[in-house]
Amino acid sequence: MSTLDKIGKPVRYNPPVGLLEFMRQVGNPSLINMGAGVPDPALLPQKALMAAFSHANKKYGGSMWAYQTPEGHMGLRGQIAKRLAKRGVRIEAGSIILTSGCTQALKLAISAVAGKGDVVACESPGYYNLLEQIHEAGAKVLPLPIDMNKGLLLAEAEPLLRKYRPKCLVVCSSLSNPTGATLSQIARKELLKLCVKLGIVVIEDDIYAELVNDGAPKPILSHANANDQVIHVTSFCKSASPGLRVGYIVPGKWFEKVARMKCNTDLHSSVVSEAILASFLELGSFDRHLQKLRVLCQQRREIVRDGLARYFPKGTKVSNPQGGFLIWAELPFAVDLKAWAQRSIAAGVSFAQGEAFLTVQASNGCLRLNCVRAKKQDLIKGIRLMADCIR
Ligand SMILES: Cc1ncc(COP(=O)(O)O)c(C=O)c1O
Repeated sequence: MSTLDKIGKPVRYNPPVGLLEFMRQVGNPSLINMGAGVPDPALLPQKALMAAFSHANKKYGGSMWAYQTPEGHMGLRGQIAKRLAKRGVRIEAGSIILTSGCTQALKLAISAVAGKGDVVACESPGYYNLLEQIHEAGAKVLPLPIDMNKGLLLAEAEPLLRKYRPKCLVVCSSLSNPTGATLSQIARKELLKLCVKLGIVVIEDDIYAELVNDGAPKPILSHANANDQVIHVTSFCKSASPGLRVGYIVPGKWFEKVARMKCNTDLHSSVVSEAILASFLELGSFDRHLQKLRVLCQQRREIVRDGLARYFPKGTKVSNPQGGFLIWAELPFAVDLKAWAQRSIAAGVSFAQGEAFLTVQASNGCLRLNCVRAKKQDLIKGIRLMADCIR
């Protein structure tokens, strides 16, 4: 169990290091960047996306360059419905709303069910921009304990959920950010059962699911009782291309409310991006890309885990995700994270400070490492530099 956070009660919280700070690091070419949660552009399926663009241009013609309905491109919604059906989710294409990345899908989901003064539960450590979004909605965050490999610890979370009755619980069910933890199918079922009983909406963030080694697991949305209890959000930013900015939400009974909010926010998302992705999926390019990406991520994770075992202090705990490119590590002693991060950046390497994912100051040195942003040959060098900068 991760004991880094002061688990116990809801708090108003806005992380000091947020999305803006992380995204600004992305553009610094002189760093071995293991901080920002984005892939190396050289690993993106550029050729296949260009081919998808030509295919879409022929198939959709002028409509690709025009306004569309707020819910988004019907071709892509159809492809998504087919993909979800393979994972046990039976929904119509019409019940999906396309968004500008998972960021917007998350925002719409939280706004649909929670507001000022409400409580929103999430994993701790959890995705920093989720903490920011809960804060922006005027809600308090209820941090829930997790295991760095298995995810939410339901037995410990249950009394907190019973006591504080959050409006919703946001969970990244596969390869959670920052730990890489994946909930088992049994845990998914149990979690849903409890939330149904307590009347808590589950917001399932599925953004990393396609990167699971053996293929995307059945989402919580696929389980019985999920109807009108689960809002499913995700994007193609981690699995295909972040630059396209295509995500989606399955809002269930909040469909009309979410469609209205989406329309009032930005009318609709980029038709060009959505049409390209529709073709990318239709041509089978997405599955071919995923096969390669999963293998590559596994190789990179192995390099980073080996490097941490070799160069980091004895007793450092390191997560062992079933896929994806994020690794979480906890040093066995306290360090000033900010000072360590500054020394590391001066030495030429960046990492994500663990505190950004927690609602209280971390009592020991914890960090998240991205294995696919830096070049393969720089990973070990980066880890050695970080280790040299610890004290
Ligand atoms: C768990 C999680 N949810 C949502 C997002 C936002 O993703 P997008 O780029 O699709 O907006 C991220 C990005 O890092 C993430 O890690």
